[in-house]
Amino acid sequence: ENASQAQRVAQPAEVVVVGSINVDLLLTVRRHPRPGETLIGGGGMRSPGGKGANQAVAAALRGASTAMVGAVGDDGGAEVALSRLEDAFVDLGDVVTVPGPTGLAVVTLDDDGENTIVVVPGANAWMTPDVVERASDTVRAARVCVLQGEIPRDSIVAVAATAAAAGVRVVLNAAPALDLPRATLAVADPLVVNEHEAALVLGWAGGGEATAGESGASLADRLHALGAPSVVVTLGAAGAVGVSAGGAWAVDGLRVPVVDTTGAGDAFVGALAASLARGDGLQDAAREATRVAAHSVQRHGAQDSYPGPEVELP
Ligand code: ADP
Ligand code: NA
Repeated sequence: ENASQAQRVAQPAEVVVVGSINVDLLLTVRRHPRPGETLIGGGGMRSPGGKGANQAVAAALRGASTAMVGAVGDDGGAEVALSRLEDAFVDLGDVVTVPGPTGLAVVTLDDDGENTIVVVPGANAWMTPDVVERASDTVRAARVCVLQGEIPRDSIVAVAATAAAAGVRVVLNAAPALDLPRATLAVADPLVVNEHEAALVLGWAGGGEATAGESGASLADRLHALGAPSVVVTLGAAGAVGVSAGGAWAVDGLRVPVVDTTGAGDAFVGALAASLARGDGLQDAAREATRVAAHSVQRHGAQDSYPGPEVELP
């Protein structure tokens, strides 16, 4: 028993996610407060979040052995922040504890469904290039390395280079949108963005302005032409479009009753990474990711809404 446990721990993770770990605090209000005003609200549940942690949970629940590289604070928030990662058996050996708060996202949601969000990076801001460098053995041993935009940009650039140099496939989710150097774009296989992020990344990387109403397929094409080996543009309820070596493709969205789309993009990215780590082609991986994300939008929350291996997908 102990020997097999040790062996399991020694196996390198197939998917490594380098990114943010947060606590999400959801408050419901009849209307948003004005400066200086005190209101009584509802909700108040703290739940695990952060794009990196969300994606790691989604990948692990889809059957990939997964490691998380990230930082939490010493404020007690880590317990909530790491709870689902632990439940999903994500390897947390490269999660460091730093002084100060764990990353925090405070969301207020009013009766009209309008929300405000304040994100405090907290410990995520400690993910500097020298800190992520300490996890480079884990990164180099993986099949797929997943990155997003909630840790310092220099670290994203550095980890992408480390992974690519070791032959590890880089899944780069430029969310929030990132000003990417061409060298990083050149190893994003795929670059995953929604339409809004696609337009921003394109402009910042020197690909020119997106035209009004430009399609996701056209944006994907232009990002590919700028040097990304493959591109996936997610389209919300409409699914996703992409470009890979074999050409352009589209995956239809699934028509499902929507309850809460929080973290749907992260469900998509995590499931995509798990599928790629199994050796699936990009379009097949996107098809599976679309089904996983469609499951998540039918349930409340982010990580709580992600399907485990026992779930029959839509
Ligand atoms: P983000 O939330 O990052 O902006 P999208 O809105 O494009 O990303 O959603 C990501 C994925 O989640 C989509 O590609 C789709 O698979 C799924 N999804 C999102 N919204 C819906 C919806 N209303 N119905 C079904 N699937 C959805
Ligand atoms: Na959800």
